[in-house]
Amino acid sequence: MIELTEEQKLVQQTAKEIAEDVIAPNASYYDANEEFPQKSFEALRDAGFLAMMVSPEYGGSGLDTLSYVLAMTEVSKACASTGVMMSVNNSLAAYPLETYGSEYVKDTFLRKIAEGGRLGAFALSEPDAGSDPAGGRATAVLDGDEYILKGNKMWITNGGVADVYVVFAKTQPELKHKGMSAFVVEKGTPGFIIGPKEKKLGIRASPTTPLTFDDCRIPKENLVGKEGEGFKIAMSTLDGGRIGIAAQALGIGLAAVEAAISYANTRQAFGTTISKFQGLRWMIANASMEMEAARLLTWQAAMMKDQGKRFTKEAAMAKLYASEAAVRAADMSLQIHGGAGYSRDFPVERYYRDAKITAIYEGTSEIQRVVIARETIDK
Ligand code: CAA
Repeated sequence: MIELTEEQKLVQQTAKEIAEDVIAPNASYYDANEEFPQKSFEALRDAGFLAMMVSPEYGGSGLDTLSYVLAMTEVSKACASTGVMMSVNNSLAAYPLETYGSEYVKDTFLRKIAEGGRLGAFALSEPDAGSDPAGGRATAVLDGDEYILKGNKMWITNGGVADVYVVFAKTQPELKHKGMSAFVVEKGTPGFIIGPKEKKLGIRASPTTPLTFDDCRIPKENLVGKEGEGFKIAMSTLDGGRIGIAAQALGIGLAAVEAAISYANTRQAFGTTISKFQGLRWMIANASMEMEAARLLTWQAAMMKDQGKRFTKEAAMAKLYASEAAVRAADMSLQIHGGAGYSRDFPVERYYRDAKITAIYEGTSEIQRVVIARETIDK
């Protein structure tokens, strides 16, 4: 049994209250209208949940990863679109800026996210390079005091609503992954074009866009880390990101299980509530066991990160297991709801659509298995 600290319990309770009072009541509306969850964003920003792990020196909340996981789970239970907005901001934008950025980068861009309440995004994937980011074609060429960025990025969460973008491009393409570098680019920079929103199956309230860099000039001070360090920055950032997505999946799965229990306890058939039927009881029992396993894997990965240990394998296991368990839980819950689950009158159809992406972004399930196999067999 893992005992949470008083501070962690307080974070969890605060997140639960925001989720129940502000996020959940608007989740269906934002999803149906494919609208950015502005009220949820403001509530999380005001509570300091959008830069949870950033040092107070730069305006963050200075909390640990387990607190972040607790908050992410509560938020994602209410609205998975809000969850990914929060996860990308914390894990994929604030983290690499704080960990690898120069004092200038931290003071200028991290501060905008943590203190200024601006959103961040992470631009690694390209139209022809998703699972294999080392194959990306975007380039950055130093010209005097500026880098000129050229290329296309795709599947960018928070695209358009974010002001601060962590962008990966090759400074020495012939060196493949060793020639990749990380940069920070602000919305509004000439030559930085944000494309139209993708039409998606789920997380519809989370804007996802392509980005184009058309001879986009940025100051050379916007380099994050050193030239050639980009791939390692991306990989270590994704290690932490995967903990956030595991927590998001856990939230969706828990919401699905709770919905199944509440429906089964009220729906009558054959003269009793359907929660009395063993076939259905076992479906719920299995899913709640899987949620518990997902929670333990996710908390373990978070605690290892907090202890400064290597957690690549544990984050991959947590993300793989929690995402696939969430997909199974949402399927189970919809099945228990029967026809009602297939209609938009119940939120379970949203959980079903939202769960699937957690097994795809920040590394597909297949990529997580590659990571786990390498860490287990080859190291
Ligand atoms: N931390 C630090 N360094 C790492 C690392 C890690 N976790 N993983 C690999 N590296 C280093 C290696 O040590 C190696 O270093 P050297 O060059 O010094 O030897 C280097 O990176 C290359 O490693 P690999 O040979 O293992 O690289 P690879 O090309 O075979 O790729 C991979 C490995 C695991 C498949 C990786 O490409 C991967 O994770 N792919 C999935 C990408 C992904 O998750 N994309 C998500 C997009 S972002 C997104 O979804 C955002 C959103 O908006 C929600």
